[in-house]
Amino acid sequence: MADKFTVGLLTSGGDAPGMNAAIRAVVRTALTNNMNVIGVRHGYEGLINGEFTPMDARSVGGILQRGGTILLTSRSKRFQEPAGQRDAIRKMNEAGMDALIVIGGEGSMNGAYALSQKGVKVIGMPGSIDNDIWGTNISIGTDTAMNTIMEAVDKLRDTASSHQRAFVIETMGRNSGYLAVMAGIVCGAEMVLIPEVPVTGEEVATAVEYAYQRGKTHAIIINAEGSAISTTDLVEKIDTLDLGFKTRMTILGHIQRGGSPTAYDRLLASRMGVKAVEALVEGQHGVMTGLKGKGVDFIPLLDVITNKRKVNMEYYHMAKVLAR
Ligand code: F6P
Repeated sequence: MADKFTVGLLTSGGDAPGMNAAIRAVVRTALTNNMNVIGVRHGYEGLINGEFTPMDARSVGGILQRGGTILLTSRSKRFQEPAGQRDAIRKMNEAGMDALIVIGGEGSMNGAYALSQKGVKVIGMPGSIDNDIWGTNISIGTDTAMNTIMEAVDKLRDTASSHQRAFVIETMGRNSGYLAVMAGIVCGAEMVLIPEVPVTGEEVATAVEYAYQRGKTHAIIINAEGSAISTTDLVEKIDTLDLGFKTRMTILGHIQRGGSPTAYDRLLASRMGVKAVEALVEGQHGVMTGLKGKGVDFIPLLDVITNKRKVNMEYYHMAKVLAR
């Protein structure tokens, strides 16, 4: 037992649907490869505090379909400091961890890189609803969040049409407009506001009035949380104008982070979990699993953290064209 290769496993940052499927895949693949797995609770914060729990095949039973993360998560300020990283490595050594697998978003990959620079064997796995991580076509959790948004907007459109109203709907995504743009296409929004393209309240008012003039029964405006105008300011501004529609707003909020993962996310998380362990078996580290084309590749963590993922402007324009 003592001689077995031991891998630590944690989830960090915002939870994302599919993280549990990823945990299950890592644990079972590691056991199959004769490794021990130690679960770390509360992300990097738990790594510093030594919140460790041994994991076996049964400890990950019945979690594939569950949202959130059974390992719990945190946004650790202490781990951003060299002293926090040093204490975390000490705890890892005390527990006999030979490597660490980190499932999380952009900030978590920064932490993973920092540890790898200090000699720890680290593998990253992208888990974030925002889909803002460079090096992978899509992150674990994004597809489920998209489906949650789609369901919510479909429902809001029902009531919007019945009352001839405009709805401003705020999506998450931090500084990325990915979720908003995709929602614009799959929900048929009249307008999409994203951080990457500044738009004025006047332009939104014009779009709403134009939708009314064309005989539309509703106007759906998707506003990404990071865009230049806040949802409340925008609604205040356009509701005072006579545009044909009265306005209401809905901030979707953390509902977008919860829920049972879609089939796509369960599959993606399972594939990446298997690959993450395979990387360690092959002696690779300092990399993140990334979906490239149809396959899962290993992307150097340095590339992941030094590049910025951009919103595909083709999709932004597509959302505009289809809003006629
Ligand atoms: O990164 C995921 C995310 O949900 C972002 O879209 C959002 O900006 C942020 O996390 C919210 O974080 P918290 O749950 O810590 O308020």
